[in-house]
Amino acid sequence: MLDKDLQPSLEVAEQSKYIAQMRADNELYFTEQGVRRRAFVLTFGCQQNEADSEKIAGMAVEMGYDITDTPEDADLIMVNTCAIREHAEQKALSIVGQYKHLKAKKPSLVIGMCGCMVVQEHRKDDIKFRYPYVDFIFGTSSLYRFPELLCKKLAKGKRLYEIEEKLYPVSEGLPVRRASDYRAWVSIMYGCNNFCSYCIVPYVRGRERSRKPAYIVDEVSQLVREGYRDITLLGQNVNSYGKDLEDGYDFADLLAELDRIPGEYRLRFMTSHPKDASRKLIDVMASSEHIAHQFHLPMQSGSDEILKRMNRRYDTAKYGEIVRYMREKMPDVTVTSDIIVGFPGESEDDFAGTLHMLETVRFDMLYSFIYSPRKGTPAASMEDQIPKAVQSERFSRLLKLQEQIGLEKNQAYVGKTLTVLCDGVSKGNAALYSGRTEGNKIAFFEGLPEDVGKFVEVTIERADPYAFYGKKKEN
Ligand code: 5AD
Ligand code: SF4
Repeated sequence: MLDKDLQPSLEVAEQSKYIAQMRADNELYFTEQGVRRRAFVLTFGCQQNEADSEKIAGMAVEMGYDITDTPEDADLIMVNTCAIREHAEQKALSIVGQYKHLKAKKPSLVIGMCGCMVVQEHRKDDIKFRYPYVDFIFGTSSLYRFPELLCKKLAKGKRLYEIEEKLYPVSEGLPVRRASDYRAWVSIMYGCNNFCSYCIVPYVRGRERSRKPAYIVDEVSQLVREGYRDITLLGQNVNSYGKDLEDGYDFADLLAELDRIPGEYRLRFMTSHPKDASRKLIDVMASSEHIAHQFHLPMQSGSDEILKRMNRRYDTAKYGEIVRYMREKMPDVTVTSDIIVGFPGESEDDFAGTLHMLETVRFDMLYSFIYSPRKGTPAASMEDQIPKAVQSERFSRLLKLQEQIGLEKNQAYVGKTLTVLCDGVSKGNAALYSGRTEGNKIAFFEGLPEDVGKFVEVTIERADPYAFYGKKKEN
């Protein structure tokens, strides 16, 4: 629980009456039926959404639900949606489409949708008219009101749409049901002020709000005490952390303070914006004990002209300079990036600039995306949208080049011994265990059940562009 000085936010405390009401209702059901009501939470999108879903599951547990992994067993289904690209939206809608049959079989099933997609007016209408079996929706700013909305929906029976509210409080004290016992997400701030011209996030998650440092330090300390070994600090742009707090305390200060928490754990963070990735931050990382030498720094494009049109507010020279400084201070740092291919107006020369940056910076890993127009963003109405065929062709060239670079980068580790946090039996090969290195790369090795959730030393014997294969060192 929170330290005595760190009280839950008022709006969270106010939810307790709805939680109690739902709990009583669910307990009555259990007494009558002999089984507990179950909740299924499905998540699309980024780690921020994963973290939000852990809060939804946490609230559901407080309300007396058991959590299930199978929608067919559920009495309550919550779909936490993403709006970053069209594909994510279509996938969520198609899965919700399949729930129609579940509702037909079990009319008491309650279906809710939340997250970034449903905040958009046109999607709200879509759901209202085309998905009549969705019982209630709420936006990112109303997450903490989940118990209240569920209660009201059940009491009144009417469908509920709670997305107008634009208060965006920084809610402290929400219960969390974490998906892992040793890997945790900790949101340090919400929203984004950057308005990159392609991006929907500032419209669906509101302006930047930082959590107070004391709450974050308390949460991380508690996680370390509970045995969490890999803790990722989350924000759309963590480098802006603290700009809305009073005393000039910034992200580097927060990292330095967290690093002083004693224990055996790794700290990571995402996502950074190159326009304000400071030397102070890199210096803190380099001299820290717990901060992983891993930096995810989305470049988006290697053309200065396109970066301008994206409203990114840095150029390739500045980007290169940050990476140079990072590698000078931390020669072992792993650098990863996001790239958007086929942004409006991207010429063959602009794209060649991106390939050139890949060759000079040499990322360990890339997350590449084909540009997807988002309704209401400036880029969606820019002239010179790039035809799909051109986008796909460039995308393949990008992947091919990165595959070669990734392979060379990973092969350089062969013979080295890396500390790997073991995740368990590999999904693709039951004979092997998998885990994550300090650079957040996947390593496969022959492990034991007792390795799960622990750090093991693995000597790398072989590498492909995406993973390491090695042998565990016996102690
Ligand atoms: N189309 C394609 N990719 C996008 N991203 C954000 N918006 C879009 C879009 N409209 C990518 C960016 C960002 C990552 C999370 O998603 O690369 O860094
Ligand atoms: Fe989107 Fe840019 Fe904000 Fe990232 S920094 S969430 S890409 S607007």
